[in-house]
Amino acid sequence: MNILITGGAGFIGSNLIRFLLDKDKSYNIINLDSLTYSGNLESLRDLEASSNYTFVKGDIDDKALVSSILKEHSIDGIMHLAAESHVDRSILGPEEFVRTNIHGTFNLLECVREVWGEGSDKIFLNVSTDEVYGSLGAEGKFTELSSYAPNSPYSASKASADHMVRAYHHTFGINTLITHCSNNYGPYQFPEKLIPVIILNALEGRTLPIYGDGKNVRDWIYVDDHSSALEAVFTKGKAGEVYNIGADEEMENIEIVKLICSILDELKPAASPYSELIEFVKDRPGHDKRYAIDSSKIHKELGWSPDRNFEDALRDTVEWYLRSVDWCDRVRSGEYRSYYADNYGKR
Ligand code: NAD
Ligand code: DAU
Repeated sequence: MNILITGGAGFIGSNLIRFLLDKDKSYNIINLDSLTYSGNLESLRDLEASSNYTFVKGDIDDKALVSSILKEHSIDGIMHLAAESHVDRSILGPEEFVRTNIHGTFNLLECVREVWGEGSDKIFLNVSTDEVYGSLGAEGKFTELSSYAPNSPYSASKASADHMVRAYHHTFGINTLITHCSNNYGPYQFPEKLIPVIILNALEGRTLPIYGDGKNVRDWIYVDDHSSALEAVFTKGKAGEVYNIGADEEMENIEIVKLICSILDELKPAASPYSELIEFVKDRPGHDKRYAIDSSKIHKELGWSPDRNFEDALRDTVEWYLRSVDWCDRVRSGEYRSYYADNYGKR
């Protein structure tokens, strides 16, 4: 099966490619990624020599390029992850979120309509987020029937893309699937998201910034569990359907930060406890209070369930960052940005 993965050099994409290639040797993966600041080919170094993996540097918004990939690689299905993914950046500068997340997704859909044709049985999986549903109060969880109520430019752009995907199913008969997943964590996450920021700042003795009162709640899932859910949806999901993905691991931000500090106190003790570095800082504008995912549909209909619990997988994640000094140093210094030119340029 020839699968086009967009955004495969990002955090989830690189873990997903590794997961799929380990799982099934019949998958042939084409990774299309434009290598923005969050795209890092060093996260895929171990896979470069695989005969069933190909990297293409390019933009999802490039019609000629996407169409030629669909034809030349006889693509059977697309797992679409490429996006601007960070809420804080969408507040500072929303325009690129509109271009990539909305127009880029529209461009992929148009290419699919043109190359695969209306009514084709090939699959377009749009990897979306629970943030499209907005913010919860103290009770309840998001189901697939929850209303869309995005609050940040990021979530609004993801919601727009979802609507376009839905429309291409209903209007043009494209076999689309949409997933809404909760907060991921694990290896190779760019240090702008909460967990890697806290781990790497702590190791450098820098302050650990907590927005507002630290009582905002997120529902966490280990990235490999997200990958297994995406594979289940991609191979067994019913066209036109939406599936929520989560692992029932709700935590307040402050609890997570303290947990990371205690794991580090044990694994790499410093002169004083890491929790002394915690600093409450100005809140994120429009900060969603709580997310929680009801994933009973994917459990019941596709037989998927997560493997990892939060505490164990968080410890593994901290250990991965401690081990992966070279990856972390090159990300922090920006040197990872030259990997493509230094390596691929010479091939
Ligand atoms: P990421 O920022 O780590 O990776 C995004 C990747 O997309 C990067 O490799 C980047 O180079 C690439 N990209 C960006 N713009 C592009 C363009 N125009 N053309 C081609 N490639 C482009 O993001 P992530 O955390 O891995 O998230 C991947 C997807 O999963 C996103 O669609 C995100 O909305 C969704 N998602 C993320 C989470 C999470 O917790 N991280 C949860 C649910 C859903
Ligand atoms: O819910 C899924 C979403 O999770 C994905 O769609 C997004 O792509 C992904 O970035 C993530 O969004 P969040 O905004 O929830 O993740 P982030 O890691 O930025 O923040 C998690 C929580 O921690 C949030 O309440 C804000 C807070 N935070 C974040 C950072 C970076 C802090 O308190 N301090 C920080 O330094």
